[in-house]
Amino acid sequence: MKHDVLKQLEPLDQLPQWEQFKQSVLSAKINCEQTVILDAAGLSIDLSAQRSSTELNQAGQDLLKARQLNTLRQALFDGEHLNTTEDRAAWHTMLRQPQPLNEVQSERLRVLELVRRVDNDRRWRNIVHIGIGGSDWGVRLATQAFGYAGSWRQIRFVSNIDGHAIEGGLAGLDPHDTLVVVATKSFRTAETMENAARAREWFEAAGVNAGNNMIAVTANPEVAEASGIPRHNVYRFWDWVGGRFSLWSAVGVAAGLTVGSSVLAGLQSGAHAMDRHFLNAPFEENAPIQLALAELANRSVLGYGSRNLAVYDSRLSYLIPYLQQLEMESLGKSVDHQGRDIKVPTGPVVWGMPGTDAQHTFFQWLHQSSEGSPVDFIVCKEADHQWQQHHKKLLAHCLAQRQALLHGKSTTQAENENLSKGMEPDKARWLAQHRKQPGGRPSNLIVLPQLTPFSLGALLAMYEHKVFVEAVVWGLNPFDQWGVELGKVLADDIYELLSVGKTKQEKHVNLDQSTQYWINQFKA
Ligand code: F6P
Repeated sequence: MKHDVLKQLEPLDQLPQWEQFKQSVLSAKINCEQTVILDAAGLSIDLSAQRSSTELNQAGQDLLKARQLNTLRQALFDGEHLNTTEDRAAWHTMLRQPQPLNEVQSERLRVLELVRRVDNDRRWRNIVHIGIGGSDWGVRLATQAFGYAGSWRQIRFVSNIDGHAIEGGLAGLDPHDTLVVVATKSFRTAETMENAARAREWFEAAGVNAGNNMIAVTANPEVAEASGIPRHNVYRFWDWVGGRFSLWSAVGVAAGLTVGSSVLAGLQSGAHAMDRHFLNAPFEENAPIQLALAELANRSVLGYGSRNLAVYDSRLSYLIPYLQQLEMESLGKSVDHQGRDIKVPTGPVVWGMPGTDAQHTFFQWLHQSSEGSPVDFIVCKEADHQWQQHHKKLLAHCLAQRQALLHGKSTTQAENENLSKGMEPDKARWLAQHRKQPGGRPSNLIVLPQLTPFSLGALLAMYEHKVFVEAVVWGLNPFDQWGVELGKVLADDIYELLSVGKTKQEKHVNLDQSTQYWINQFKA
């Protein structure tokens, strides 16, 4: 098997190619006179504001070869068990194949048929999508991106265990005209199970047969059926689809019902186009690979702790949590495939906000804090509204912020500006210290021609593959998420102490004094 190479990967910090890459990053500079723009599935990826040099380019290629990227990339597309700790494939690329496996095709057709049927009948004015994490963010993102101007069917999302979420999610809806979609790969997630139970009770209290008004999307269809959702209302996906890679499966059905099944098809074909690019473009022209190398340089060599997402499109605000889950659940690890500690900093914090709001919230920190953060500027060349001046101004803000981060402002420049306004020389010098901006701060500019399902699909797949390349270099498994398990188990234990009145001795949990204090308080 190709992925057997994972067992032989050396610790990254002991690899001569890593040392070479590090040295090349440290001696490279951002070359403001040079333009590096890649074309990937219709997206333009401008990497000009990253360090570059001929040596760095060569060192990056050598590093990827040493990490056997070609072999592992092929193993990913072949559906090999790259998720070693769970012994399963991460075969999301199969979900967007034009000619996928039969079982994938038949679920795809079932979703299309459902949307067609209920659209024809003008059924369900309301959709309530219940799910969390990967069973939520992608559907929110697609629905907001393409339904921002409203649609005849309204959709609400309920993810949180906070009872206000389900209360607000159902409030004011007519249960007779509401379809609840329960999306959960495992059909075990506490939040989703509780919220689905409340929805069921809500239907029953109104005399509506919940089995007719609820559908499930899951990789655990038997449990979904056992919960009372009839088989014909259960849509399935497979354990080889990771939660955060599942938008391409039937998980997207609520988006199809709200903004049209053409959106689902468009997302899939855009993602597939990016898959082809990732598989076939040479390393130097390969957008996911070059983005990954830039992040490896910024994170593991230059020590930046985070990457900011400045999304200059208010329809894409959910892109931020979507990518946070994709990147931080995948790369927030520090042990390699063999179980050894990785000795270089791995996955950064990913954070952000739509621009221009972000400019009035935290851009001060990006420009003048001691540390700063690399930024991904994401923008559409064309807008879909009628106010061209808005869009031109949006584009201007995006380019201006990037330029300001890159070039900054020297003390002399600031002082001269102050003097030219007639300021006293002492004051001009003093104020210049506060107005100077260091510059030299790295960023990527990612331009979509227009926000379409195709371009959004390509964008999401590009980030998926960037994550994969980084994971290959760091030598970690991007497809598991063991770190979230401990908290889930503890929450179950503490719930029993809080509500059922069990003692910590009975539950064998070791509680610190403060937690015990708050359990007593909350119990009372
Ligand atoms: O937070 C952990 C996690 O397992 C995510 O990976 C996943 O997307 C989410 O919970 C929801 O899981 P499920 O789809 O099984 O309900």
